[in-house]
Amino acid sequence: MLLPKTNYSSKFHFPTAIRMPLIACLSTCALLYTLSYFIESSFEKYLIAQNAIELHSVIDSVERELSYYDSNKEISELIPNILLILTSHSQLFINISDENNNILYKTRGPDLPQIFKKKNIDDLIVSDGTTIWDYGHSSYQINASRAISADNKKYLITVAISRNLQLEFTQRLHNGLLIIIMICCILVPLGTLFTIYLTQKPINRLIKKISSINSKSLNERIPRSFVPAKYSSLVDAFNEMISRMDSIFQRQHDFTADIAHEMRTPITNLTTQTQIALGNARTTAEYKEILYSNLEEFERLSQIITDMLFLAQADNKQLVPQLVEIDLASVYITMFDYYEYLSEEKNITLKLEGYCPSILGDHLMIRRAISNLLSNAIRHTPNGETITVTLSKISNKRIKVVTSNPGKPIEAKHLPLLFDRFYRTDESRQRNNEGTTGTGIGLAIVKSIVEAHKGEITVESDDKSTRFIILFPLLIKNKKSQ
Ligand SMILES: Nc1ncnc2c1ncn2[C@@H]1O[C@H](COP(=O)(O)OP(=O)(O)OP(=O)(O)O)[C@@H](O)[C@H]1O
Ligand SMILES: [Mg+2]
Repeated sequence: MLLPKTNYSSKFHFPTAIRMPLIACLSTCALLYTLSYFIESSFEKYLIAQNAIELHSVIDSVERELSYYDSNKEISELIPNILLILTSHSQLFINISDENNNILYKTRGPDLPQIFKKKNIDDLIVSDGTTIWDYGHSSYQINASRAISADNKKYLITVAISRNLQLEFTQRLHNGLLIIIMICCILVPLGTLFTIYLTQKPINRLIKKISSINSKSLNERIPRSFVPAKYSSLVDAFNEMISRMDSIFQRQHDFTADIAHEMRTPITNLTTQTQIALGNARTTAEYKEILYSNLEEFERLSQIITDMLFLAQADNKQLVPQLVEIDLASVYITMFDYYEYLSEEKNITLKLEGYCPSILGDHLMIRRAISNLLSNAIRHTPNGETITVTLSKISNKRIKVVTSNPGKPIEAKHLPLLFDRFYRTDESRQRNNEGTTGTGIGLAIVKSIVEAHKGEITVESDDKSTRFIILFPLLIKNKKSQ
């Protein structure tokens, strides 16, 4: 399976080293700038609101004092009270003038009504709010009101609070936040670079180690301690992959060695027999006998090649069964007839038990699988015993076929490997009574056939019998393919 192409460089490479810190820097700056803007504007709004409250309270107090004031009396009665009002307010300027712009009272500082336009004052009085007034290098927040004295005279009260100190403080806050942002802009990329370096370091070490593993060192495993704990699952996954590759390589190696070995035996026999035949003059009958013997070896070679091609097809998933309805009971009866001669030679009884519904399968393949299992069973059953095939339906979806034969049990260590190509138990490697040995491909072929039919095959063996158990799915034939 090909993995999707992704261009990950193995090194701590330039673009990552620039991209990541840049992204971290930009996002941190944007975040901090938004935050500082929010802090500054909230702070300024808070100061303006506080000033407005202060200006209102001063105006209220002065209006009250004026309402008791009689212009015919001495002004000295009014001034101390106004001064008293102002004592608790610093940076505050007040101007009280009558309708003719005669100043009744004025604090030192900006000449408010003169420099602050009359129209603006009228707007301010109507809106009952405050306004910001920047004058020269100074900034003021202003409020104004009209008041009526006890003798019914109208007065204009203008009150201003200096914002200079507040603006200075706001500016200092702004500068402070700017410095913090700038420091973060330097520290964040450096921190990101350092983090990338720390993260990349063990990965680079791992890449170096992995690169050093080749087909000759597939037995090497990377210890978990080689990388920090957070990467141990990566190391585990790699080690597992290497183990799988190791076993595949090993199996391929064994497979090649086995196939060479299996083909060498008939070829050696053929060569030897031909050399002997050519060594002396022979009669026609003798040549005929040698040719018959050679024919057997050719057939053996041909069978090995056919079987290998069949397994290669299975490996490449090219084994596509031609599905037809198969009554397994009748196939077994036919196969029992086929093996009658062989079983009678050993006085072996072939018995079919149970019942199962028809399955969908490839007729030739199913016959081949049954034939391999029966020939094995006959070969390994002692004389005079019985081989039993039991058919059953174990659920609505599956049927079970058990081929059971008595005989010497197969050692447990062989069982998981029995379906591997060329695998034979040690005893089977020795020549049997007929002077031949099996090639060890039979069960591998059975397994491929069963799997091509989406079934499963297992083997059990004990003192009583050896049992090959096949589970076939009960396939439902698609109407179109009927
Ligand atoms: N019914 C059985 N009883 C006991 N051992 C068995 C039985 N069937 C198979 N085996 C063991 O499993 C091994 C593998 O069987 P398999 O059919 O793959 O190969 P083979 O019979 O030796 O050769 P081939 O079938 O290729 O001619 C056999 O060599 C034998 O040791
Ligand atoms: Mg066999």
